[in-house]
Amino acid sequence: MTLALAPNEAHIWLVNPQTITDDNILQGYFPLMNEAESAQQQRFLRPIDRHRYLVTRALARTSLSRYMSQPPASWKFTFNKWGRPEIDPSQLEIPLRFNISHTNELIAILVNLRDDAGVDVEDLSRRVGVMTIADFSFAPGESKDLQSLEGDTQKQRFFLYWTLKEAYIKARGMGLAIPLSQFSFHRSHGDTLYIDFDEDFGDQATRWQFQCFAPTDKHWMSVAFQGEPTPDYKVRVFWTVPMQSEEEVDLTPAMQTKT
Ligand SMILES: CC(C)(COP(=O)(O)OP(=O)(O)OC[C@H]1O[C@@H](n2cnc3c(N)ncnc32)[C@H](O)[C@@H]1OP(=O)(O)O)[C@@H](O)C(=O)NCCC(=O)NCCS
Repeated sequence: MTLALAPNEAHIWLVNPQTITDDNILQGYFPLMNEAESAQQQRFLRPIDRHRYLVTRALARTSLSRYMSQPPASWKFTFNKWGRPEIDPSQLEIPLRFNISHTNELIAILVNLRDDAGVDVEDLSRRVGVMTIADFSFAPGESKDLQSLEGDTQKQRFFLYWTLKEAYIKARGMGLAIPLSQFSFHRSHGDTLYIDFDEDFGDQATRWQFQCFAPTDKHWMSVAFQGEPTPDYKVRVFWTVPMQSEEEVDLTPAMQTKT
């Protein structure tokens, strides 16, 4: 049955690919991929990457089919010059948009109508050189904030900034063509987020709203939505095993922009 999606609503579909080990289920995912995707899947050297790619394709195709009459295998995609996939305009019955993010144990697809939106998930247990990356890529204020922290607190804050920054550049569809140092996030009163842009950057804080979630105890997931922050913007979250099961969960943002 088709799932309704309102203009002031986004849906996020989540899957942990590591939980999908049943060969009967996995065999059902292969025919969903087109020729280019099948070839790409084979090009990954590590089994974990092949598996993640396969489950990502199944997640994307089955999730999109919840909103329109296209069967999962029939979706066609176009790509902008920075590689962002979109549904081929010839297939659009409604102005459906999507954005994908993946880690080894969590894949997310954000689905919404019309507006630019982006999602990023990161695994907090991943080993990273926090200050090296922050000093090289983040805005000076973010780097200074991280410098004042240590241990797990520092790492959590780092991944908060990272997911928010990635969600924003993905919403813009330009990826790392946008300099990460020219916009910055701040927190106030614990759970309120603010974004600031450098003066000549050409964007405004009032054009965007952000939310950050902890969908598992080891992942941050941030989402960026174009449009004036409004209190009635609703995000619904579903855990799924593509073609097998789905369950809506009540996930409150850990942090968000003030509306
Ligand atoms: C491609 C990029 C947009 C996101 O990459 P990423 O964080 O490695 O990967 P994610 O899993 O979050 O997202 C990948 C998905 O984004 C989508 N995507 C690709 N190009 C995109 C773009 N220009 N805009 C938005 N989404 C894009 C794709 O659907 C892709 O998944 P798919 O190839 O399976 O379809 C880009 O920002 C990038 O290469 N980032 C590298 C990460 C990094 O070094 N960050 C620095 C610290 S902040």
